[in-house]
Amino acid sequence: MDTHKQLTIGLFGFGVVGEGLYKVLQQTPSLKANLKKVCIKNPGKKRNAPASLFTTDKDELLNDPEINVIVEVIDDADAAFQIVTTALKNKKDVVSASKKMIAEHLSALLELQEKTGQSLLYESAACASIPVIRNLEEYYDNDLLHSIKAIVNGSTNFILTKMFEEGLDFKQALILAQQLGFAESNPKLDVEGYDAVNKWTILLAHAYGIVEHPDNLVFNGIQNIQLSDALVAKEKHYDIKLVAQAKKLLDGKVAAFVLPQFVKQDDHLFFVKNEYNGVVIESSFADKQFFYGKGAGSFPTASAVLSDISALRYNYRYEYKKLYHHIIPELSNDFYIKTYVSFDDWQFIPKEKFEWIEEWHAEADRKYLVGVLPFSELKNNNWWRENNTSLILAPEPVIEDVEIRRLKKSTNNLAFRQGNFSPFPFSAVKN
Ligand SMILES: NC(=O)c1ccc[n+]([C@@H]2O[C@H](COP(=O)([O-])OP(=O)(O)OC[C@H]3O[C@@H](n4cnc5c(N)ncnc54)[C@H](OP(=O)(O)O)[C@@H]3O)[C@@H](O)[C@H]2O)c1
Repeated sequence: MDTHKQLTIGLFGFGVVGEGLYKVLQQTPSLKANLKKVCIKNPGKKRNAPASLFTTDKDELLNDPEINVIVEVIDDADAAFQIVTTALKNKKDVVSASKKMIAEHLSALLELQEKTGQSLLYESAACASIPVIRNLEEYYDNDLLHSIKAIVNGSTNFILTKMFEEGLDFKQALILAQQLGFAESNPKLDVEGYDAVNKWTILLAHAYGIVEHPDNLVFNGIQNIQLSDALVAKEKHYDIKLVAQAKKLLDGKVAAFVLPQFVKQDDHLFFVKNEYNGVVIESSFADKQFFYGKGAGSFPTASAVLSDISALRYNYRYEYKKLYHHIIPELSNDFYIKTYVSFDDWQFIPKEKFEWIEEWHAEADRKYLVGVLPFSELKNNNWWRENNTSLILAPEPVIEDVEIRRLKKSTNNLAFRQGNFSPFPFSAVKN
């Protein structure tokens, strides 16, 4: 006897994800989920589904007592928030793919889940087809999780792959990503890192119990990356990726940010190409684990939505274990970061802010250096993303205080031994 809950679905949105879900549901009769109504915005659009299914009146879904699940896959974060909160208050479980809406309103949504007892699932909002949220929730205990780093934005990864492996220029690669349904309708969200930081906000809550507004995280996108950066990367046998990461520091706090990074060939993320996403989780005993899958697109995203719908049949809800049942670590700005910076003119680079500089190339029109900065410099200032400056992190970017003193000392010694203490326009190592 099937004791699973019978699901009657009201779907908001019939775009890339919504239509994908419609098709996937048709091919999954075993789920026994009945799609009763679809709410869309523009009634005039041609749809690949019976006209009787569609409405533009959201209350037809939200006030229908027979509908017990609202699936929200629209591209308007403000409207999505209204729909999701009303649905929860109306005692409906919700599945959503809207990372922007979830990231920006996570606190309010947590409160509402507590208050209503309803379930809000959003696996597809993080890495589309990769089941990372449920794994972080169910499998990884807070104390064991050393670090998590990931490529969470399929469209920037697609653009970088097409630029650096197939020689497309930025605009061509972006248009191709949009044509294939990998990019958001507003490309700024992807390209400038907003989408990635929204996803990272969500994953931080499930990895460490840290609930932060995305505006409070340090992030950037790929908009400043230049062809010359790619050439430097090639020379060093690196790839450039937009990497989101979080790392437990020695003092128990967490370093978290989303920035472009040089990725070495022996890094799992090196092999994540095109619209794929990848997540590397490092824990005490299991060491490194790597999750890989499509991070965007109609069916891959719909598959995660489907999995959430399926989980609702047995009343699954996120327990937010790290948030409610563990001591929540603080987010830290008190560490150092090793980074490459390329730029057109010295006047835009505050050289004195660097702890030390390891490489310095001032000959060409496009100049660059590799050095170590306090992370707070990125948090508190903007020079590193202005005036055509491109900042790309080194492969193992996080340097903690203890380590920095040791490294500083040995760099000093080396400089003295080689008799070239001041090879640059300023002292190579800050004293
Ligand atoms: N595409 C992906 O690969 C992907 C991956 C993961 C997550 N997501 C997320 O999934 C969501 C949907 O993305 P998408 O790519 O499917 O977007 P999309 O192709 O642009 O489709 C958006 C849909 O939302 C509908 N819509 C907009 N405002 C509405 C409103 N107020 N009420 C009802 N319907 C409304 C639109 O209606 P009309 O058809 O009438 O215009 C359209 O059907 C977004 O939050 C996105 O971030 C997307």
